[in-house]
Amino acid sequence: MTINSNLSPAEFALFQEYIKEQCGIDFNEEKSYLIESRLSKFLIKFGLTNFEELYRMLNKQKDVGLAEEIIDAITTNETLWFRDKTPWMILEEVLLPAYIDEIRKGQRSKVRIWSAACSTGQEPYSIAMCIDSYLKRFRVQDVTLSQFEILATDISTTVLKLARMGKYDSISMARGLESEYRDTYFRQEGRIWKLADTIKDAVVFRQFNLQNSFIGLGNFDTVFCRYVTIYFSEQFKKVVFSKIANALTEQGVLFIGNSEIFFDYKENYEMTQYKNGAFFRVRGDS
Ligand SMILES: C[S@@+](CC[C@H](N)C(=O)[O-])C[C@H]1O[C@@H](n2cnc3c(N)ncnc32)[C@H](O)[C@@H]1O
Repeated sequence: MTINSNLSPAEFALFQEYIKEQCGIDFNEEKSYLIESRLSKFLIKFGLTNFEELYRMLNKQKDVGLAEEIIDAITTNETLWFRDKTPWMILEEVLLPAYIDEIRKGQRSKVRIWSAACSTGQEPYSIAMCIDSYLKRFRVQDVTLSQFEILATDISTTVLKLARMGKYDSISMARGLESEYRDTYFRQEGRIWKLADTIKDAVVFRQFNLQNSFIGLGNFDTVFCRYVTIYFSEQFKKVVFSKIANALTEQGVLFIGNSEIFFDYKENYEMTQYKNGAFFRVRGDS
C-alpha cells in the first residue's frame, strides 16, 4: 500500500473548511504544508492511503475523540512565562493597585480574570504568580490571592491536561521565567519542576472553544486573549473581541499580544497607552 501524504488542492479545501468550522482557525493555501505535516501521522495511524480518506473517516464516524485529536494536532500551542513584558507591568502598576483599593473600599469582593487561550498554563500561572508576588512585596494582608478567580480555557484537551499538572521541563522553564519566580514558586524533582500548590490551586482550567457562546462563563474584570486570534479570519476575530467586550465588567480590560494588530477596536474598546505598553478598556456604551 502506498501512502500519498501530499495534500492535493481538493483535500486542502476540505480540511481548510473543516478546521475553520471546528475552531475558527483560517489556513490560507500558503499554509497548506502545515495541515499536511500535522495530519500525516493520522494516515499512518489508521492505515489510510490519502487525506480524503481521513476526511471521510472524520465525517462518517462523528468520532469526538478523533475530532479532538485533529484539533490538537492543528493548533499551535507555543507559549512562555510572562510573555511580553508590558501586560505584567500594567497588571502590577495599574490594575492590581486599583482592584486592591476597590476591595478595601468594599466596592468589590473579588476580581475575575480569564486567560482565554491558555495553552499549557504558562499564561494563567504567570497571572497568579504576578498577583501573589505583588501582595507579598507590598505586604498586603487584607487582600488575598483567593480573592482573584483565574479561569483558564483552551480548545485543546491535551494542553489542558498538561496545564493542570503544573509540571514543566527545563526547556519550558527557561522560556521567560525569571529565577526569582522559579525559586519561589517551583520545586525541582529530577528533570521536572513542580509548581507550588498555592499557585496551581489559584487557577481553574476548563475546555472552551472561543466559537461557543460566552454566556455561562460569567463576567470578567480582565481578559487575556493573546496570540490566538492571529490564526482566525478577520471576521471571526471581530466576533471574538466583541463577545469579550460583552463579557467584560464596566471598565474591564482586554490584553492582546504585543505583536498583534487590532484595527477594529474602536466600536467596543478604548486603547490606553501605558509607558511602553497598551491595553484595551471596554467602552461604557458597548
Ligand atoms: C499560541 S497559543 C497562545 C497561548 C497564550 N495565550 C500565550 O500568549 O502564550 C494559542 C492557543 O489557542 C488555542 N486555540 C486555538 N483555537 C482556539 C479556539 N477556537 N478556542 C479556544 N482556544 C483555541 C490553541 O489550542 C493554543 O493553545
